[in-house]
Amino acid sequence: MDKIIYDNGYDRKAYAALGNRFLIGNGLVGIRGTLEEYTADLLPAINLAGVYDKVENFREPVNLPNALYSYIKVDGNNYRLPDLKPASHKISLDYGHGIFMRSSSWTCPRGNICLETRRIASMDDVNLIVMELKVSADFHAEAEIYTGIDTDIWDLNGRHLEDFSIINEDIIHYEARTHEEGIRVVMDETIEAASDCEITSVREDGRYLHRISFITRPGEAFRIVKYISFDTSKTAADPVCSSADVLKRSITLGYEEVMDRHMSVWDRLWDNADVEIKGNDEANTALNYSLYHLMSIAPRHADNLSIPARGLSGQTYRGAVFWDTEMFMLDFFIFTEPDTARKLIKYRIDTLPGAMKKAAHYGYKGAFYAWESQEGGFDACSDYNVIDVFTGRPMRTYFKDKQVHISAAIVYGLCRYLDWTGDMSLLDDGGAEMIMQCALFYLSILVKSIFNDYYEIRDVIGPDEYHERVNNNVYTNRMAKYVFEKAAKILREGYLDISDSERDSLIEGFEDGAKHILIKKPDENGIIPQFDGYEQLEDASLADVRSRLLNDKEYWGGAYGVASDTRIIKQADVVTMLNLFADDYSLDTISRNWSYYEPRTEHGSSLSAGMYSLLACKIGNPGMAWPFFLKSARADLSEKGKEWAGLLYIGGTHPAAAGAAYMIAVEGFAGLSVKNGELTCNPSLPKEIEEISFKIFYKQQQYSIRVSHDSYSIDEIN
Ligand code: BGC
Repeated sequence: MDKIIYDNGYDRKAYAALGNRFLIGNGLVGIRGTLEEYTADLLPAINLAGVYDKVENFREPVNLPNALYSYIKVDGNNYRLPDLKPASHKISLDYGHGIFMRSSSWTCPRGNICLETRRIASMDDVNLIVMELKVSADFHAEAEIYTGIDTDIWDLNGRHLEDFSIINEDIIHYEARTHEEGIRVVMDETIEAASDCEITSVREDGRYLHRISFITRPGEAFRIVKYISFDTSKTAADPVCSSADVLKRSITLGYEEVMDRHMSVWDRLWDNADVEIKGNDEANTALNYSLYHLMSIAPRHADNLSIPARGLSGQTYRGAVFWDTEMFMLDFFIFTEPDTARKLIKYRIDTLPGAMKKAAHYGYKGAFYAWESQEGGFDACSDYNVIDVFTGRPMRTYFKDKQVHISAAIVYGLCRYLDWTGDMSLLDDGGAEMIMQCALFYLSILVKSIFNDYYEIRDVIGPDEYHERVNNNVYTNRMAKYVFEKAAKILREGYLDISDSERDSLIEGFEDGAKHILIKKPDENGIIPQFDGYEQLEDASLADVRSRLLNDKEYWGGAYGVASDTRIIKQADVVTMLNLFADDYSLDTISRNWSYYEPRTEHGSSLSAGMYSLLACKIGNPGMAWPFFLKSARADLSEKGKEWAGLLYIGGTHPAAAGAAYMIAVEGFAGLSVKNGELTCNPSLPKEIEEISFKIFYKQQQYSIRVSHDSYSIDEIN
């Protein structure tokens, strides 16, 4: 099936959503699917991975200047959106190859004018962006293309790029420094155009442009190609030279070759990643489109990056890495690109010092990972993460200091990687130390009342962020137990170069923690209370709680949130725990908890639906899983995600939901797992699909898997 999506017709108001939906990227940059003539108010962005900058109190990733900026004039009149309504307009995304395309036409008294573009963020050379632009008219006219670099950047909390200088010649050369650390940012742009045109340099406000004047000829399109290269002193010793080299190389290769190389990388990636859903084209498209998003934001080129919660769609969530990566996205990479999965985990190993610093800051031992991790493990999360809609004041939120389950997610991710790849070298490369430090952290937050013989973890936030500062969140405690067990195991296996007595005492501590930590039990109705006292909260319906909102953007949690004193939760919490530890519970208990918590879940996070779907598959109810699968797979295709948390803008793409959609298809519907060291499937296909097939890597061997309602096959690929 062709991997292509379209948006036909022009809706001025859709710019934010389309910018996300038609995003292209190569792991180093994400380019929003906005139109070439859009200025900063319509949210164009070339979002750069791994370069952060702080202005006042806000640290976020840097958006590069808009080097795709272009518009056209015919007979002296501007033809651009949103100003002049088009006769036709269509944007497309070839998500098989990461190509954004646009075609707009306008009718004027003398005839029809058409503008077509296509652009890529090269997968072959990640410091390169290329765009082809064609103008045609069915009459002879004097036409001009204005194209170059717009330095007026869309920033959530900028200006990040300062003291910029620009040389506006054949090559437009841009240089600037970031505000906080003075990182040099360099960008070069040049064009190739037909010889029968005149090219001059022009400047309009903050835009540095080439003006290309030509005469339109009926039946013939006038075409230019734009090459854009960039680099920063963060990764290049001399970013000026390296950007110039990329530009030179790409011009020498030429447009066709650059495109071919880019497309072959995509073909190679799809060869391992494609999941075919037979019998339901819509689901097939939504799922593979989700995988496209994961593939286009994976930092294959770097050794020190992971994937931010909003991918590379902008500066939302400070471009930071959350538990989303380990708990929702990692499986896709472990199964289809194990080398990339390794890099994602390596990022956490490398940021261990940051996590240890954070633990020490709060008076704990070991490693407390950043809730919103930037470079070096710096926690970009603010203590005042939400702005109150009524007072305009920042609200104290406790995500950073109380969402302690983050460290366990990282251990979980590493162990998934080890189990599926068999690549134990990561343990010697810092992985064992990381597990041990995370376990030490959990040990240091255990408390024991003199009246009880068990350990508690108090004053935390579980996955459900609406209930802050609760005690014994069952997800958190169960994850801590998991970490203790893993740490004791690797120590017993002899990892880590420590003395025998130190080893023995650590093992003793971790085993004691694992044995005595309180894991709340199901009550008489089989319901596991999410935390101490949950069952005493008001049991209001979701509709009721929603009706109490006074403002659409109001935050549901925190001190005065409408959900805080009720049993309404933001996202899967107990259900997430049950997914991970299904073997500890009877099917009846799992079912009861699914049915109890689902109506009480707002699904206010895109992470939620996937967990409900997966668990429904595990209890053999794919019918119940299906709508939640679609919700996850369509998170960026057609769902209207939340854009505001209080007055905090949180719009962007949802790679965790994309990863969840993959997990549902492969681990839920196909029921892929490992039993006694062997791959096996337990099909739980919904009636809406006939068959599902995909390839995965397991212990360095690739397999082709096909699953239908009543049979399955797992074949080695040679
Ligand atoms: C969710 C978190 C998630 C974050 C980033 C929040 O809304 O509650 O669980 O990690 O978004 O996706």
